[in-house]
Amino acid sequence: MTKPIKTSRRSFIAGSAATAGIAAASSFIPTSFAIGATAPVKVGILLPYSGTYAMLGNSITNALKMRVDQAGGMLGGRAVKYVVLDSEMSVPKAPINTNKLIKKEKVDFVVGPVHSGIAAAMAKIIGPRDTPIMIVPNAGSNGVTGELCAPNIFRSSFSNWQPAYPGGKVMADDGHKTCVTISWKYGAGIQMMAAGKTGFEENGGKVVHEILIPFPKVEFQAVLSEIASIKPDCVFSFFSGGGAVKFVKEYAAAGLKDNIPLYGPGFLTEGVSKAQGAAAEGIKTTLHYASNLDNPTNIQFRKDYQKAFGSAANVFSVQGYDTGSLLLQAMAAVGGDAGATADIIEVLEDAKVPDSPRGVWKMSKAHNPIQDIYLRQVKNGENVVLGVAAKALEDPAAGCKLA
Ligand code: BEZ
Repeated sequence: MTKPIKTSRRSFIAGSAATAGIAAASSFIPTSFAIGATAPVKVGILLPYSGTYAMLGNSITNALKMRVDQAGGMLGGRAVKYVVLDSEMSVPKAPINTNKLIKKEKVDFVVGPVHSGIAAAMAKIIGPRDTPIMIVPNAGSNGVTGELCAPNIFRSSFSNWQPAYPGGKVMADDGHKTCVTISWKYGAGIQMMAAGKTGFEENGGKVVHEILIPFPKVEFQAVLSEIASIKPDCVFSFFSGGGAVKFVKEYAAAGLKDNIPLYGPGFLTEGVSKAQGAAAEGIKTTLHYASNLDNPTNIQFRKDYQKAFGSAANVFSVQGYDTGSLLLQAMAAVGGDAGATADIIEVLEDAKVPDSPRGVWKMSKAHNPIQDIYLRQVKNGENVVLGVAAKALEDPAAGCKLA
């Protein structure tokens, strides 16, 4: 479902002042806003802080707040109030949690979620409404910027197709002819495995078996035996967080690592490569980030994040950081008027994020990042870049009517 956008382009303060979070000297200050100008901007956050994706939720939240704090702790000159809920990775609870943020807390922005199934549930509630504006800082559900796309829904992360599709070509280029895919059975796993399969088969490979296990189960012994008996040339896999640590370790412990190389979208080793230890060394993945990207923002961001939180930054914290940049840009452009929805939408639609640790990216017409996908490899516990697997990759956004 799409809604018409009421557009009235107002002064858009682009560039360094806006991205630094400096309140824009906008010519536009509506009366209704002037009355409530001292109230804080409310940012609702729905992310996982428990279970297998807890590390992802914490990384996003930490970096989002760090980005806003570094710009002075204000959005468009107004204080910020974060209303934070644990999604518990529960799709059934997603409508209650979303409505709590919208109707009870009356937030101006919703930031979330991590999980594709929750993202689709949230999009079905928020998309048909005029407000609030939702920024997805991780969940890759293709549908959220596909058939469920809406003027007020934006993503600062990736679609499930984006990091997975180039991975298929990487496996074919490495000379592999047969592959088994294995993942969790829910939106993210299904969509990433399908995209990797397409990329592999377009380049001459054949996916000979597809394994899906219930989310968030981590009992891998039976499926590892199955893979050993099939003996494919390679395995393509999506797991993330705690589940990825266990899978990669057990894959190596089962003696598969040296005989059947493991590949996947970069979530397989992202933020967890140290915990995976020797089991992760040498694994090649594709993702829109790598630890050692040599740009000044990334170098500074990694230093700041390590200092503030005592752990290394990862793609999830990059996505949180960039969500902060989008909020700063949008709120600076409307001079702090969170009610200027049409104007905020225009700013986000035009968003170019030149100061992202991942490198420059911009918003597609479907409201999803157009970004480089890097080929990475785990070396000494770091996901280091080997090259660009796909330049400025744009999601096909099937079914999205925004244009
Ligand atoms: C997802 O559910 O969309 C997702 C979760 C973790 C990492 C990447 C994607």
